[in-house]
Amino acid sequence: MTGKVLDGNVVDDVSFGAIVQIRDQLLGMQREGKKVYRLESGDPSFKMPEHVAKGIEDAIRRDKTHYTDSTGIPELREAIAHKLREKNNIKTATQENVFVTNGGMNGLYVAFRSLISPGDEVIIPNPMWTEIAEIIKLSGGKPVYIPIERYTNLDDAISHKKVKAVFVNSPHNPTGKVFSMEEITKIVDYAKRENIFVVSDEAYEDVIYDGTNHLSPGSIYEDTISLYSMSKSFAMSGLRLGYVHTNNSKIMERMKKMLRCTINGVNSITQYGAIAALNGPQDVIEEMRKEYQVRRDLIYSGVKDSKYLDPYYPRGAFYLWARLKKYPQGIKDAWGFSKYLLEKTAVGSTPGPVFGPYNEDYIRFAFSANTDDIRQAAELIKNLD
Ligand SMILES: Cc1ncc(COP(=O)(O)O)c(C=O)c1O
Repeated sequence: MTGKVLDGNVVDDVSFGAIVQIRDQLLGMQREGKKVYRLESGDPSFKMPEHVAKGIEDAIRRDKTHYTDSTGIPELREAIAHKLREKNNIKTATQENVFVTNGGMNGLYVAFRSLISPGDEVIIPNPMWTEIAEIIKLSGGKPVYIPIERYTNLDDAISHKKVKAVFVNSPHNPTGKVFSMEEITKIVDYAKRENIFVVSDEAYEDVIYDGTNHLSPGSIYEDTISLYSMSKSFAMSGLRLGYVHTNNSKIMERMKKMLRCTINGVNSITQYGAIAALNGPQDVIEEMRKEYQVRRDLIYSGVKDSKYLDPYYPRGAFYLWARLKKYPQGIKDAWGFSKYLLEKTAVGSTPGPVFGPYNEDYIRFAFSANTDDIRQAAELIKNLD
């Protein structure tokens, strides 16, 4: 290691991800042979669907292991465009304006990097999954946090001057909020009035409860960049498959360049798995959704009955966001509570400040782990002294 001074790099503004501390502690306990409950992060417990595994296997046997088009193989882009037209009602989607990315994360980076000029501001909700603010910063932009409760009333919220886009994430990580049609329309109307973009992250479009409907802003506003992921919809998180749709020709051009000079195409085998996922039976999505709803009910009722916590009722995604209404003796904030919970019960969680400023008294639980673990964790949280 050398200590040569290297400053002035935008990457230095990005955090290491505070959640790593909690995860390391959990993994340490696991290595010691202790039973732990992995409620600190959202990775589906399900196996990938059988027809996806078959698509991948076939691709290997057919020697589909060479370079692909850097924006995604045409057959996959066609399947994605079809899905966007039929399911998301984004009628403008074609093979030419959809882009296959290395998971939703890479899609977010490529999209923001193609949209933002230095100093541009992007409105994001508070709380918000950390990576959004970090990716905006990496792209030379500035995240402007607006409390999620005020998100449909943006006119009073900001100075307007440098705002390039408003970011929407519905269903929302970490609160599980699903924006209604009326709320999405208000945000879109604001974007229209200000002549700015909507960037819509729909990674959890299929994880939605109680018959709630998902509305894609891209179906009602053409200056929307829409982002999707197969990580949650098809339990394919490790395979890394996301996609982006835009109608803007300049952004299309930039995204093509970005993809060519960064990933130069997603792993070919994964792309064949994704074709199988989109063209095969879709009932797997509903089966997983139902099971997530069982888990949502279990964790919600456990947390609700805890003397320390007051949960927000999630209509989508697999996260429970809860306010700390009181603290155990000697504990002062969410970080302390998260550690206390881990030591007493082996239940992992994520402290609120990870998701943006002023969330000191909040905590997030992910309920993507298997149902038995969620049931036991809910009991442990409920009975925490
Ligand atoms: C809100 C949100 N968007 C996008 C993603 C990206 O997921 P992936 O990169 O696995 O597609 C995640 C992952 O947790 C997320 O929570």
